Amino acid sequence: VNEWLRELLVLPEQASTYATEIDMLHYFVISVTMLGAAAVAIVATYFVIRFRRRGRPGPVPRFQMPMKIEGVLVGTLVLLFFGWWWIGLRQYMSVRSPPANTTEVYVTGKQWMFKFSYPGGKSSVGTLYVPVGQPMRLLMTSRDVIHSFYVPQFRVKQDLVPGRYTTAWFEATTPGVYEILCAEFCGTGHSQMRGQVVVLSAGDYQAWLEGASPGEGLDLVDMGEAVATDRGCLRCHTTDGSPHIGPSFAGLYGRTILLDDGGEVVADEAYLTKSMMDPLEHVRAGYRPVMPSYQGLLDPAETAALLELIRSLRAEHARPPYPPPQAEGIPVYRSPP
Ligand code: CUA
Repeated sequence: VNEWLRELLVLPEQASTYATEIDMLHYFVISVTMLGAAAVAIVATYFVIRFRRRGRPGPVPRFQMPMKIEGVLVGTLVLLFFGWWWIGLRQYMSVRSPPANTTEVYVTGKQWMFKFSYPGGKSSVGTLYVPVGQPMRLLMTSRDVIHSFYVPQFRVKQDLVPGRYTTAWFEATTPGVYEILCAEFCGTGHSQMRGQVVVLSAGDYQAWLEGASPGEGLDLVDMGEAVATDRGCLRCHTTDGSPHIGPSFAGLYGRTILLDDGGEVVADEAYLTKSMMDPLEHVRAGYRPVMPSYQGLLDPAETAALLELIRSLRAEHARPPYPPPQAEGIPVYRSPP
């Protein structure tokens, strides 16, 4: 029935774990509204024939619906409303709450492409590689205007908003190649802003992860350290908590910090990105407004690497000061929860 209805409604293939469930709600909504419309049409036709004016003068006979039937109709509508609401709420919760064992990928949208950065240090433009049967969590942002990441076969659609991180998750069920579309009008190249998801078997995915690419062998945190050194971040910021010209990266992520205008802000991905690109907008209390803007100087993969470095230095993920004593076999990267 599922397959038959899917083809009848011209829906794309179902290639993620929650695609079928989402379609079920769609079928339910369509069937109820179609049956409702058909019932109204049949009753109206019957009334037109049954109560037509048969050439006799005088008032048209009045039809009074029995109270019992009216009660049943209203009751059915109320039940339908709550049924819909309940199914919709449950599906919304499952689409918004990723399982615990997700693999995270940073997604950056810009006019007019999608860029993907993996915690292992791999990155790619336009093509997202994922293993089959593994829940993937996307941490998404935009460098310019609002874009939207849309994979019809996965029933995933989520906006990418500049200065903000949005998330989405999915678990692909069938190996293959699926199209990514931008679903938010974003300029003259909007219709060309496409990409693809390549769903690989676990073995092929591992082989791809281990294959050569820029940043090979470096995880995102290591890459973040390299970027922080190259770009001069560490001339003003420390990674061990000691104060310097700028606030230390250690214990920064996730904290509520005081601004010099008396406001407060949580140091999340959005604030940290904003601080790199537009540092004078929100200056932290107790520090001079001397940081230069890195807008245009850091590419999306470098920004993601810096964020991952700062995330790794949050209080509950304390790690040794830079440079990391990797040689001693101390685990330096733990994937965030
Ligand atoms: Cu990006 Cu439309």
